This record gives sequence, C-alpha cells and structure tokens, in this order.
Amino acid sequence: MIEVKAPGKLYVAGEYAVLEYGHPAIIVALDHYITATIKETTNKFGTITSIYSQNKPISFGRIKSKAILLKENNDFRYVITAINITEHYVLALGKKLQFFDLNITSSLDNNGTKYGFGSSGAVTVATVKALLKFYKINATHDLVYKLAVLTQIKLKENGSFGDIAASTYGGWIAYSMFDKSWLLNKIEEVPFTELLHTQWSNLRIEPLPSPNFNLLIGWTKTPASTSNLVEQVKTDLSNHTFSKLDYNSFLKKAKYIVEEMIQAFYKNDTTSIYKNLNNYRNLLLEFSKMSNITIETPPLKLLVKLANNLNIVAKSSGAGGGDCGIALVSTEEQAVQLSTLWQENEIIPLTNVKVHFERDEF
Ligand code: PMV
Ligand code: MG
Repeated sequence: MIEVKAPGKLYVAGEYAVLEYGHPAIIVALDHYITATIKETTNKFGTITSIYSQNKPISFGRIKSKAILLKENNDFRYVITAINITEHYVLALGKKLQFFDLNITSSLDNNGTKYGFGSSGAVTVATVKALLKFYKINATHDLVYKLAVLTQIKLKENGSFGDIAASTYGGWIAYSMFDKSWLLNKIEEVPFTELLHTQWSNLRIEPLPSPNFNLLIGWTKTPASTSNLVEQVKTDLSNHTFSKLDYNSFLKKAKYIVEEMIQAFYKNDTTSIYKNLNNYRNLLLEFSKMSNITIETPPLKLLVKLANNLNIVAKSSGAGGGDCGIALVSTEEQAVQLSTLWQENEIIPLTNVKVHFERDEF
C-alpha cells in the first residue's frame, strides 16, 4: 500500500495582491495533513473513501478511460477531477490505467470544524501525489503543482493557487501566480505533456530559509469563505466599485512590502520581517476600506490588538472574514503569554499546529 501526505497552509503576507501575477505572497505549510493511501484492486471498479462519505466507499468506473463516480457526489469533485487530470498524463505517457481503492483522511479540520488551512488544495495535492506514485511516475514538486492547478482550473476555482504551492513544496515559500490568461490559451494550444513541461509564464515558487521565530496561530471560531470574498473583489473590480487607480496603488505597495519581507527571510532579518508583517496588516486594513469587504472581523482585530499589547506582531491570515490570525513570537515565554491572553478572550490558540519542514518527500 502507498501512503502520501499533503500539508495544510496559512498565508503570512501578500493576500489579495497575489491574485495578480507578478505580486508575491509568503505562505507557510503546516504540520497537519491530508493523507491519501492507495492500493490496487482486482475489481472492475475502484473506490474512494473519505470523511466526505462518512468513511463509506464510493465506487467509480470508467467511460472511455475517464474515471466517473457511479453516483454523482459534489463533495468528491477535487478527488475525481484530480484523478482525471493525473490519469490523462498517465495515458499520455503510454501507461495502462488500473483500478484502485483510494482512502483519504484529514487532520486539517477538527471533526468537520474548518480552520481555513486549505484542505481543498491539500486534498488535490494528496490525490495527485498518490496517483503518480501508484502509476510509478517520477514526481517533482513542479509536476505535482501543475497537475493540481490544472485540476482546480478545470473546477473553475478563482484563487491564486498559493495553497497548492505551499502544500506541494512545504516549509515557508515565496509565491507568485502564473499569468492565467497565458495558461488558459496554452491549455487550448499545446499537447498536455508539453503544457506540464514548459515553464509557466510569470510563475515563481521559491522555498525560503526557515526564520528563527515561531508562528502562533489563533482561531476565531468563525469559518470564512475565501472564494466568496475573492469573487466579491473581482466583481467590484469589473464594476468599477473601486477605482483602478486605488487598486493599482494597493498592488504596488503590496509588492514592495512583500519583496522586502522575502529579502528579510534570506538575510534572516527578523526585525524587518516583523516590520513588514505589520505593514502588510495595515495595507490590508486600507484594502478592506477601499473594497468594502471585511477582512479583520472583531475577533481578528482583538487577536491582533492583544498581540500588539505584548509587542508581538500579528495579522489576519488569508482572505480574512474569520478563520485564523497569526502572530510571530520570538520566545517560548511570549508564546505562552499570548496564548493565555487569547484564551481569556475567546480566541483559541492552536498550539499543536506547527510549521511543516520535511521538504523533499519525493
Ligand atoms: O483564506 P485563505 O487562507 O484561503 O487565503 C486566501 C488568500 C487570497 O489571496 C485572498 C486568495 C488566494 O487564493 O490567493
Ligand atoms: Mg481563510
């Protein structure tokens, strides 16, 4: 039996701006995972089992080589589409398809409670990795990232796919999205294997050196929908609800702050990382005013304030509107102090969630 894992993630900086190519974000992978196990079956159908099916096996068959669930189930769209995309590559390599039993488990949420650790990205990455191993195909980070992105593009996901990059590469990364219109054209124009082996225009994924502070995560107990928030920004942009000028100024400032933060990671300059984290927090507050979306909900505002009172930098993580905030702490003592303070104020410190470091798993 084959077992693979894909870590969850949190955004550190660069949110929203990263939706435009050429604008970097810093994202960190977490030591909580989606785990996929896969084994061959002699049956004339395969099965997928996961928490989404209350751990009951859901069968799939094939029509003209394409894996199809015998009973449609939207909760399995990431898994079945990742199977289709990866098997498309398997066929292109001249290999024969087989049936298998795939089992998916998660430590990214707590009995269905969502933290916003990017489980859909991690499920996609775990499925791609499991299938590549099953079909004995040499996987690289680049290949896994691209197959997982193509899966989510097929599903019309509207994000930057930074969660997929973090889940594939692990650790701390600098990430800028590829030029999406370029890719959409290429998908139509070039054969599938070529698409996977050409460089994607503007894509940047750089593993960063580990810094010497710790990440403390605070959960606000309210789930948020990233795709709704992103959709709102995109609609507002096309309706000119906020000016292109303001938006471009936001993008410019975002790029400046995050580039400086990336350089600070390379120089191990903790002071500069802290300063820029705080700058990005302030920029997101401006962006929130301009776009009329709530990024820092009252609990997130409180989370930041309590940290700042102890001279610790903190901000919302990701799209905001709920989920988690992060704080960068220098000492264990600070972590204990802040956790206690958060706890007294109804913010749950997720002290058992740490940064993921095992980088080269392939
Ligand atoms: O809420 P999260 O952790 O999924 O982060 C979303 C970050 C955005 O930049 C707002 C969207 C994206 O896909 O990059
Ligand atoms: Mg979120």
